[in-house]
Amino acid sequence: MSSLEGRVYTVTGAASGIGQAVAVRLVELGAAGLALSDVNMGNLEKTKALCDSAGKAKIVLSRVDVSDPAQVEKWVDDTVREFGRLDGAANVAGIAGGDGETTCATIKQEDWDKMLAVNLNGVMFCMRAQLPHLPRPGGSIVNVSSTSGLRGLPHNAAYATSKFGVVGLTESAAGEFGRQGIRINALLPGPIDTPIFRDGEAKGLFNSEITSAATCLGRMGQPHEVAKVLCFMMTDDSSYVTGGMFCVLCLPPP
Ligand SMILES: NC(=O)c1ccc[n+]([C@@H]2O[C@H](COP(=O)([O-])OP(=O)(O)OC[C@H]3O[C@@H](n4cnc5c(N)ncnc54)[C@H](O)[C@@H]3O)[C@@H](O)[C@H]2O)c1
Repeated sequence: MSSLEGRVYTVTGAASGIGQAVAVRLVELGAAGLALSDVNMGNLEKTKALCDSAGKAKIVLSRVDVSDPAQVEKWVDDTVREFGRLDGAANVAGIAGGDGETTCATIKQEDWDKMLAVNLNGVMFCMRAQLPHLPRPGGSIVNVSSTSGLRGLPHNAAYATSKFGVVGLTESAAGEFGRQGIRINALLPGPIDTPIFRDGEAKGLFNSEITSAATCLGRMGQPHEVAKVLCFMMTDDSSYVTGGMFCVLCLPPP
């Protein structure tokens, strides 16, 4: 795969799971600098340690709640000031499930609002802050949706709605910025073995055995398997790929 030498990326949700694996993979591919953010600073330090073992990139950590547009804007502006450039962004941060009371008849207003604020508004706030700074041509954004962004999931209406939204947002933005040479793609993971899935399973929202059996490959995926696909879309090897929806561990057709 072509190298990311000299390039600078932002990653949200970098303290855990897929975001953490993406940060490490970007370093492995030769990125010069990473601005990593999350609401969990303790775990973000662990990601920095993993990145430092993987290569030589300069790593800057920030506490950013993606549902707050002012925090997102400041973080992206600070990143450009610090590194002097921004080549791409992995918008990964997300949440799943409220307290388990999630039918459309009973979901709590605050759970609905929070899901859309983090998973959908958060991606929009990131793209709005990132797009003005990306190189034209050459910029690349990947927004993390879910296979629940293709097919509704009972008892997970807010989650599925937020992830359908990420697909619509990504396709729309790809059409707006493609002629300027900026590529914007969506990544749709299936069941991946990370805290978000295990926490949802503990609340009875997901079941790893049933979900694994329903995938084409018959197992859950690992974060590094998602990171490899996501980071391919940051490289020039995907130069004719935009507005795409990439399923990582697809569900079989209905
Ligand atoms: N694991 C799966 O099965 C799966 C499947 C499909 C999609 N996804 C998506 O992948 C993305 C990453 O999830 P993961 O599996 O790595 O889970 P994870 O829980 O390991 O990581 C999510 C990270 O997002 C951070 N985060 C939560 N709210 C935030 C906020 N308001 N601002 C900033 N950071 C915040 C968390 O602190 C955490 O570090 C999410 O968008 C998730 O919806 C995951």
